[in-house]
Amino acid sequence: MLAKYSTYEETSYLLLYGELPTKEALEEFSTKMRRLRDLPKKVEDCLRELPPHPHPMDILKVAVSHAALYDPDRLRCCREGVMRKVIRIVSQIPTIIAYYHQTRSGQEIIPPDPELGHAANFLYMLHGKKPEEEEARIFDIALILHAEHGLNASTFAAMVTASTLSDINSAIVSAISALKGSLHGGANERVLKMLDEIGSLDKAEKYVLNALRVKRRVMGFGHRVYKTYDPRARILKEYAEYLSNKYNDRKYIEIGKKIEEVMIRELGKKGIFPNVDFYSGIVYHFLGIPRDLFTPVFAMARSVGWAAHVCEYTTNNRIFRPRAYYIGPEYVEYVPIEKRR
Ligand code: CMC
Repeated sequence: MLAKYSTYEETSYLLLYGELPTKEALEEFSTKMRRLRDLPKKVEDCLRELPPHPHPMDILKVAVSHAALYDPDRLRCCREGVMRKVIRIVSQIPTIIAYYHQTRSGQEIIPPDPELGHAANFLYMLHGKKPEEEEARIFDIALILHAEHGLNASTFAAMVTASTLSDINSAIVSAISALKGSLHGGANERVLKMLDEIGSLDKAEKYVLNALRVKRRVMGFGHRVYKTYDPRARILKEYAEYLSNKYNDRKYIEIGKKIEEVMIRELGKKGIFPNVDFYSGIVYHFLGIPRDLFTPVFAMARSVGWAAHVCEYTTNNRIFRPRAYYIGPEYVEYVPIEKRR
């Protein structure tokens, strides 16, 4: 329902405040988000100085940490202060990603446009022209679908950090670090890499069978919780189809559908189906988003989900401190270094 009727801003409000906003509340919230998009000048300058080749997820970690130093609410830990910090981070992350992309491409940065919504503004800052309404809406839906997803690894990382009574910005940085990995958010960019490696429809089946034979993970499949088709992937697949037809370029979608067919045939009985990362990359590709920005875009969407879980948990906080099962030898002598072999 949210993907059908909501916007990223409205979904963010719902996640942060636990209820859908009234018209006035949504207007006020969206205006706040638009006002908070700008980056501190020093962060903007720093983005120009950063080396051009690290993975943009590493840049995002650095820039989110850096921006936190200039946050006027930095030292506030009351609910209102934390909420302002959260809305600021969620609003600034798209600007960080777009600015970094412009600077590494040797282009002038394009400041946010306060007339545009969250999704449309990101595409605008990235491409320097206002996106078609339809494409902005598809991107908005992709952001909604990624905004929250229970206790996934990155949300858990954020909550572990926040549970020590560290600050929300540090929690978000922990989450970005966890999302980067290829078993989590990093899978989306690898799916496109795989589609390129396969290259044509007739090679897809052999590629998948070979991957399974050598026990290599096929990116964009499987999920710790879903043992069925990820509902988010179904929606993204529809848009991947739609955009492939619109741009009359069906190579990726055809290879993707073949991979899906073979994977479900081979591993469906084990509960392995496409997850959210499988078709999102094709959608982003047609929206003109560079491949190495797919995971940062996931972070941009998920930031509000991370923050919502942290805020919910810390109202009645207890530090996360699991115990480990020790499986080594029971007693080990301390051997002086000169006697060790
Ligand atoms: N390709 C091939 N085999 C797979 C895959 C896959 N993508 N995923 C799971 N399996 C097999 C796995 O080899 C194992 O087989 P066996 O029982 O014979 O040893 C079985 O399915 C269960 O796998 P698991 O590793 O126990 O499952 P898990 O719940 O620990 O891992 C996962 C979940 C998402 C890490 C895993 O499915 C995977 O590595 N997927 C590929 C990466 C990916 O697409 N990640 C995105 C996850 S969803 C969105 C997000 O969080 O970003």
